Amino acid sequence: MLLLLSRRVSPTSFAKRLARPRKPLAVPEPSLLHPGTQVFGAKFGTVSASAKRTGTMPERRPFVRLPTDVYPVNYGLCLKPDLVDFTFEGKLEGKVEVTQGTNQIVMNCADIDIITASFVPEGGDEINATGFNYQNEDEKVTLSFPSVLQNGSGTLKIDFVGELNDKMKGFYRSKYATPSGEIRYAAVTQFEATDARRAFPCWDEPAIKATFDITLIVPKDRVALSNMNVIDRKPYPEDDSLVEVKFATTPIMSTYLVAFVIGEYDFVESQSSDGVMVRVYTPVGKAEQGKFALEVAAKTLPFYKEYFNVPYPLPKIDLIAIADFAAGAMENWGLVTYRETALLIDPKNSCSSSRQWVALVVGHELAHQWFGNLVTMEWWTHLWLNEGFASWIEYLCVDHCFPEYDIWTQFVSADYTRALDLDALDNSHPIEVNVGHPSEVDEIFDAISYSKGASVIRMLHNYIGDEDFRKGMHSYLLKFQHKNASTEDLWECLEQASGKPIAAVMNSWTKQMGFPIIVVDQDQQGNDRVLKISQQKFCASGPHDGEDCPSWMVPISICTSEDPSCTKLKVLLDKPEATVVVPSTGPDQWIKLNPGTVGFYRIQYSSGMLECLLPGIRDLTLLPVDRLGLQNDLFSLLHKQADMQEEKNRIERVLGAISSPDLIQRVLTFSLSVCQSLSAEH
Ligand code: BES
Ligand code: ZN
Repeated sequence: MLLLLSRRVSPTSFAKRLARPRKPLAVPEPSLLHPGTQVFGAKFGTVSASAKRTGTMPERRPFVRLPTDVYPVNYGLCLKPDLVDFTFEGKLEGKVEVTQGTNQIVMNCADIDIITASFVPEGGDEINATGFNYQNEDEKVTLSFPSVLQNGSGTLKIDFVGELNDKMKGFYRSKYATPSGEIRYAAVTQFEATDARRAFPCWDEPAIKATFDITLIVPKDRVALSNMNVIDRKPYPEDDSLVEVKFATTPIMSTYLVAFVIGEYDFVESQSSDGVMVRVYTPVGKAEQGKFALEVAAKTLPFYKEYFNVPYPLPKIDLIAIADFAAGAMENWGLVTYRETALLIDPKNSCSSSRQWVALVVGHELAHQWFGNLVTMEWWTHLWLNEGFASWIEYLCVDHCFPEYDIWTQFVSADYTRALDLDALDNSHPIEVNVGHPSEVDEIFDAISYSKGASVIRMLHNYIGDEDFRKGMHSYLLKFQHKNASTEDLWECLEQASGKPIAAVMNSWTKQMGFPIIVVDQDQQGNDRVLKISQQKFCASGPHDGEDCPSWMVPISICTSEDPSCTKLKVLLDKPEATVVVPSTGPDQWIKLNPGTVGFYRIQYSSGMLECLLPGIRDLTLLPVDRLGLQNDLFSLLHKQADMQEEKNRIERVLGAISSPDLIQRVLTFSLSVCQSLSAEH
C-alpha cells in the first residue's frame, strides 16, 4: 500500500513526509481550449527531479478548469460497495443546469467505467449519450449526445462501476481485524484534494458547489455513515442480506468534502450544549477510547459557534477513526475522518502529549466546518489560508477548552520556531503560490504553509486585536456562507472591521518567502527611551547580499519591565528603519520587543539592551514564551556571529540564564547528527 504521511508530524511521531514525483505533462493545442476557460500553471511550476538531473524542462501542459456551460445543482448518488470483491456499483441522477446549448458534457472522472449515460431535459424526452471519451491524463470524461442539450434544467443519469482501491484515496478499502483476529475490510473515502472523481463522475472543483442526496446499499450488519443523518433505512429488495440507507440532503457543498464510510464500529455519543448530536466512532470494542475526543468535540462546537457568531449548520457531526488513513485527519462536512492515533485515547495508558495532540487535531478539523466547509476557497491557491487559519485557531480553541495545557507555549516551541528555521533557508517558498493543476497542491503543502501560515495569522490576530478580528471573521463567514471566497476577500472583511491596512501588511508576509530580523538599539533621553529599529532579511546562510533587499510591513509590540505581560506600545514598521520613542521609561527599566513571541521575525538587540534583559530572565519576570523566543533568536544568531568572540560570549551568558531543556535538546540533537555523519563517512 502507498504510504502517505501526515502533513504535520504529531509530537509522538517523527516520520518524514515522502515526496511524490510529478507526472510530466504535454501541452495541448491552444485551439483545443474551451472558450472562456481559465488557464493556469503556464508560468509557475516546479521542475521534476529527473528534469533537474538531465537539465531539460518537462513540457508543462496548461491546466484548464471545467467548462461552465453545464453545472450541477444536486447529485442524487447511490453507491453499492462490494466488500469482498472490492468493487462498487454507482448510479448518479444529477440535476443540472445548461447555461449554453451544447451536445457534450465534460466532467471529472478517474478509474471509473461508465456503463450508460443519458440526459433528460425538464419536460422532455431522454437523450442517450452516444460516446464517453475518457481523457485519462486530465481525469476527465466527455459525454457526447446526438442532439444539442438546450438551455435550462435537466437530469443527467449515469450508471458506473469502480474499484474499492488500496491507495487510500477516492473510495478505498481499509483493512482491520475483528476482536477474534479475523481480517475484514471497511469501505471509506478521502476526496481532498481531487479524488471525489474516483468515486463518481462529478464536477470536482471547490467552486462548483451542489447539494447531495446520498444512498448507500450495504450489508445489514455494517454501519453506514455519510455527511448527513440517516432519514430512511429499508431492506434492499434484490438481496435480503443488504439494506438501503438514505441520508438527508446536504447543504450546498464542494465535492472534496463529501464522505461515506461502511464498516464495523462502536461509538460514544453526546449532545453539545448547542444541540448538535456528536458521535465518536471507534474500532469494535474500543468505544472507551473515543471518550476524550467526544469531550473535546462537545466543548469545541459551542466555542466556534460563539467565536464566529455563526451556528454549526448540520444536525450531527461524526468523528471516526479509520484503520488505514493517509493524512492525519480530514474535515469532511459532518463526517470527520481521522488516523487512529489522532482520535483515540486509551484512558488507562496515555500521556498528556497524546491528549494534547488529539485535542489540537479535533480543534483543527472542527474549525474547518466553518472555515473551509461553510465558506470554501475559490481555488487551491487559497488552501494555505484554509490550513493556516485552522492550524492557528486549533490552539485558540484548545487554550479555551483546556487552559491548564498552556498550549500557546507548545505553539511557539513547535510550529513557530520550526517555521522560522525552515523559512530562513534559501530553498524556502512563499506561503501563497499559484496552484494550477491540483496535483501541485501536494507539492506546496508543507510546514511552511501550515506552521508559517498559522504563525502569520497569529501575528495578524494580535495586530488587529481579538474584538475586531472576530467582527471581521463574522462578516466574512456571513457574507460568503455557502459560497466561495479568496484570501483577498478575508483581508477586505478584516480591513473593514479594523480600519487597518490588512491586505498590504499580509501580502508582504504571504507573497514573499522569508522574514526579517529586526535590529534594535536604544538611547536614554530624559525619561524616554528612544529606539532605533531597522529590518533586513534573515538568512540562515549568512547576511542577505542580494541586490534588492526585501522588506516587510512589520507589526511590532514593545513591553517594559514595568509590566512584562502588557504591551506598552505598538508600531507598524513599514520601511527599512524607524525611530520609536517609548515614553516614561526610566534608565533602570528593560525593554523587550515582541512580547508573547507573536511576531514572525527574529530580533537582534544591541549589547546594552541584551545585558539589561538579564535580570528579567534570571528572576523569571520575563514570561516563558518570551524566554523561549529570546533563546531561539539568540541561538540562531550564535551561528551567524561565530567570528565575534565578545558578542558570542554575551549571547552565551544570556542563553545560560534561560533555564532551557529545549536548548539541551537542540545541543544533543546537533551532537547526534554530527556523530551520525561522522560514522557514515567512516
Ligand atoms: N484538509 C486537511 C487534510 C488535507 C489537506 C488532505 C490537503 C489533502 C490535501 C486537514 O484539515 C489537515 O490539515 N490535516 C492534517 C492534520 C491537522 C491536525 C494539521 C494532516 O493530515 O496532517
Ligand atoms: Zn486542515
